[in-house]
Amino acid sequence: MIPANTIQEILDAAHIEEVIGDFVMLKKRGANLFGLCPFHNEKTPSFTVSPSKGIFKCFGCGKSGNAVHFLMEHERLSYPEALKSLAKKYGVEVHEKELTTEEIESQNERESLFNLNQFAQKYFSEILWQNEKGKSVGLTYFRQKRGFTDQTIHKFQLGYCLPDRDAFTRQAIHEGYKIQYLEKSGLSILRDDKHFDRFHDRIIFPIHNITGRITGFGGRILTTDKTIAKYVNSPESEVYDKSKSLYGIFFAKNTIVAKNNCYLVEGYTDVISLHQAGIENVVASSGTSLTEDQIRIIRRFTENITILYDGDPAGIKASFRGIDMILEQGLNTRIVLFPDGEDPDSFVRKTSTTEVEKFLATNADNFVIFKAKILLKEAGNDPIKRAEMIRDIVGTIALIPNIIVRALYVRECASLLNIAEQTLMSEVNQILRKNFRKKRESTGEEPAVEPEATAYTAPKQFDFDPNSTEFQEKELIRLLLLYGTWVITTPAQNEDGMETETRIKIGEWIVHDLLEDDIHFAIPEFRRLFLEMVKGIENDFIPGDIYFIQHPDPELSKTAVEVVSTPHELSQNWKKYKIHVTHEKDNLPMIVKSAILALKARRLEQALTENQLLIKETRDDERIMELISARKKLKERSLIINAELGRIIIR
Ligand code: CTP
Ligand code: MN
Repeated sequence: MIPANTIQEILDAAHIEEVIGDFVMLKKRGANLFGLCPFHNEKTPSFTVSPSKGIFKCFGCGKSGNAVHFLMEHERLSYPEALKSLAKKYGVEVHEKELTTEEIESQNERESLFNLNQFAQKYFSEILWQNEKGKSVGLTYFRQKRGFTDQTIHKFQLGYCLPDRDAFTRQAIHEGYKIQYLEKSGLSILRDDKHFDRFHDRIIFPIHNITGRITGFGGRILTTDKTIAKYVNSPESEVYDKSKSLYGIFFAKNTIVAKNNCYLVEGYTDVISLHQAGIENVVASSGTSLTEDQIRIIRRFTENITILYDGDPAGIKASFRGIDMILEQGLNTRIVLFPDGEDPDSFVRKTSTTEVEKFLATNADNFVIFKAKILLKEAGNDPIKRAEMIRDIVGTIALIPNIIVRALYVRECASLLNIAEQTLMSEVNQILRKNFRKKRESTGEEPAVEPEATAYTAPKQFDFDPNSTEFQEKELIRLLLLYGTWVITTPAQNEDGMETETRIKIGEWIVHDLLEDDIHFAIPEFRRLFLEMVKGIENDFIPGDIYFIQHPDPELSKTAVEVVSTPHELSQNWKKYKIHVTHEKDNLPMIVKSAILALKARRLEQALTENQLLIKETRDDERIMELISARKKLKERSLIINAELGRIIIR
């Protein structure tokens, strides 16, 4: 048996576009990829892959799933076989439960490095909290110079490495860690036949991967001595690849999904300070500009990225090229510029959380506009510089894969730069054509074509039995998965019976409302999914679609994929009253309310049918009276629910 945490590690590591890309030729269009479906015969591609959600879906034959499901279906593998094949591809070690820890250690290098790093983290933290010098130097620095609370220091597992040049190395060897791994991990450095601690006399920031294991460390000096490097980092190793590492991703990933946005900062301390201020959807590129791999990691959780910059114009201009790359990957990019001389860390320390949130919300500029504004200021009235600037902006806009988004930027920039929209648009199109030609010449392939629009036919597995509640249950699960964390305002009554409003998360609303009426799900997968949702909410965490798509239980993940990827059929009620909802997101309170009522109404119908049968069969007079009075109550309740449902629909 593969342990659950290993399954999770495999699912977290797998990039669906790479897994499927091994078998299907995929072409990028917007945030998604397209190709010819490997499960049925077709000439125009209707097979789509969404890297951000980690799912594939064929709009021709209806097949859908995550990376594991793909391998099971395509390679005819069992669930464990598919997992192992992914584990191999992504270098995740799978230890089926019967192996002992000693065997594991001797067997593989990655695991040894992870083990060593974990030991080192514990050691550095222990020094920080227990050693006299650690407390007086390291802990004092974190508390006083950085304003970190003890809770924060614990959460990020911060530590301190003593100034004695080899105290750590000696302890590690004493505890049986091999010198070969101490060197490979970079924790120890060999010089003149002696081993030294790389991080001696530094405070320690452990770097975690997506699954929370420690891949490396950053160490900072405590002084302002300009002759020594302020930060020293672990070298690349079997477990630490700088270009694929994002500091803070482990602590941020759930909130990134929940907020549907990722803040990007430069340094360790920026991440930690923002966390301490309650802003948890933040990661750092650790001093370098963002790499393509890092962008891909972020894109698995959200398509929105907000870059927080320290205000230094030269540095900002230097970063433009890197941001172009983010745009090219189809992410929406916004920029917040901090006041001169402040980085997010220093700013957060002197500002209250609400003000920080307000500042971020009001100062986030769209990247294209941001760039246009900066270049515009620089060019002034110089016509040559202006022309150059316009070419630059046009080039950036042309990188955006989505045609609608592109058109919006053209409009906004045209007004900002005071030129005709048409002119700007034709410049952009010219570049697009040029890039298109270039691409064809260099790769010899035709760039992706739009798949022909095909009429959607509901997949077989969702043919609904008219007597079941599958349809209603599925709709509620869909709303829970997609909008569980969204906050909406609903009408309510206060204690005096006055009409007021309450603000509630959709997930909590649905769960509380159903539990209050003791309504449960009849379809087993939906029931399990709902129960996990309830458990999450009890712990103040609302799991979203990605959580379930990557669920270690293959049945649950399959269900989640199906629910999320089926274009949702309009509710029967909407159809009945011929109301067309164009923007579901704008009508959520109504849609959620009617979905809840629809399930309740259906349940009552079922109860009434059952009651009728019982009345027919019963010979006992007293029992019949009971059933009739129960029937009356059911009828009343049903009338109320249906009236309410009708009222919502008609309003
Ligand atoms: N960095 C690094 N190596 C260096 C300098 C910086 O790896 N020699 C990385 C670190 O991840 C650091 C980030 O770049 O957090 C930002 O650097 P800088 O702005 O100099 O540091 P701050 O995070 O502001 O550090 P501090 O506030 O501790 O001075
Ligand atoms: Mn700083």
